[in-house]
Amino acid sequence: MNTSINIFHHFPSFSRLKILIIFKSILKMSAVPDQYEGFTVSSTKEWSNFSRTKITPKNFEDHDVDIENECCGVCGSDVHTITGGWGELGTTPLCVGHEIIGKVIRVGKAVKEFQVGDRVGVGAQVQSCMQCKNCKSNNENYCPKMVDTYNAPYNEDEGRSDKLMKDSKGNQIFSQGGYSSHTRAHQQFVFAIPKNIPSHEAAPMMCAGLTTYSPLRRANVGPGKTVGILGIGGLGHFGILWAKAMGAEVYALSHTPSKKSEAKELGADKFICTENENWADDLAFTFDFILNAADMTHKFDLTKYLGTLKVQGEFHNVGLPDEPLPGIMAQTFAPNGCKLTGSHIGSKKEMLEMLDLASRKNIHPMIETIKISEKGCKEAVERVKVNDVRYRLTLVGHREVFGTGK
Ligand SMILES: NC(=O)c1ccc[n+]([C@@H]2O[C@H](COP(=O)([O-])OP(=O)(O)OC[C@H]3O[C@@H](n4cnc5c(N)ncnc54)[C@H](OP(=O)(O)O)[C@@H]3O)[C@@H](O)[C@H]2O)c1
Ligand SMILES: [Zn+2]
Ligand SMILES: [Zn+2]
Repeated sequence: MNTSINIFHHFPSFSRLKILIIFKSILKMSAVPDQYEGFTVSSTKEWSNFSRTKITPKNFEDHDVDIENECCGVCGSDVHTITGGWGELGTTPLCVGHEIIGKVIRVGKAVKEFQVGDRVGVGAQVQSCMQCKNCKSNNENYCPKMVDTYNAPYNEDEGRSDKLMKDSKGNQIFSQGGYSSHTRAHQQFVFAIPKNIPSHEAAPMMCAGLTTYSPLRRANVGPGKTVGILGIGGLGHFGILWAKAMGAEVYALSHTPSKKSEAKELGADKFICTENENWADDLAFTFDFILNAADMTHKFDLTKYLGTLKVQGEFHNVGLPDEPLPGIMAQTFAPNGCKLTGSHIGSKKEMLEMLDLASRKNIHPMIETIKISEKGCKEAVERVKVNDVRYRLTLVGHREVFGTGK
């Protein structure tokens, strides 16, 4: 007889059951290290030179969920950040990546939604104040105290205090992204992943998916609406999938003619190549909504795009170029009374709705995977930079590479 069974003999049967459950959850739990490991960059000049370094997570608080990373998508925003297109790095070394899927390995004492072992995702935001009017109206993605998943400073008291969060050496703690071994996020920014969505496909849904779903949903896109998706990259290809699933007529607008067949495969009814000088000639008063996911809008003839909108139609920017939008005359809005708008990621409510839609309708993005390493991260960001991705890269193999998940 083995010893563990001998020990159990000393307890009544209900206690044996309890001990078994505790024992099983200890087995499922991996240790949470004080420092994480990640592939990081140290300067915008050498933006694609990644090194494997230690990174310091925020202090663990009551609503935090600790996650052992499994994979992470590569967003255009990672490239804008490390190239310095949006400004200097907030901290170095910096680990980017905000399309993270992994497994819960610890929860704070106020966390009700998750348990150790759950498969979850984290997108481009990890914290907000949870008290302001935006947080209380499913607009936590517009909280003035929001913390981005990487390159943002943390404050004490789950972000509600004005006091900066410091490490044991007195250095300000910054958020660090998912090209790394682990993630720590407030439970509001952690999402359960439906069983039938594979991790490498769920990863890019965390940012690219949500950022395109939210504005389409808020614009009530559906049957009877004509929608243009402009810039068919990571975000744009999700835009086609969602707009089609919502029942709209969908046009893909792209400056890359070779994307035509894939755009149709994704569900686009029509493909317009914006490199043709006369592309807009027959499109006056066509679109209810254009979702602009391109990040070169500063080079666009915006007047031409706005002229394709129906009366009071909307040109909505989710692409965030390094340069200001081109100057336009106020008169540009006169012929159709159109609107020029924009948005930032989406809310948890929208994320869960989007995941449910993808799960129910069996929606699959077009994903390529690269194993995470110094070389893998370099290749990934360099390819995004030169528009050589069809249509999203997901870095995979985190557990093997970081030696976690044992
Ligand atoms: N608002 C938010 O909350 C939010 C969230 C995530 C990302 N973003 C931003 O959204 C943008 C797109 O991100 P992504 O990950 O989808 O990037 P991406 O995969 O690189 O896609 C960008 C697309 O822009 C178009 N484009 C590139 N160069 C162009 C040029 N010279 N002229 C015209 N179009 C060009 C391309 O589409 P075609 O080849 O089809 O023309 C390309 O596929 C980035 O600026 C990113 O920072 C914003
Ligand atoms: Zn992103
Ligand atoms: Zn708030």
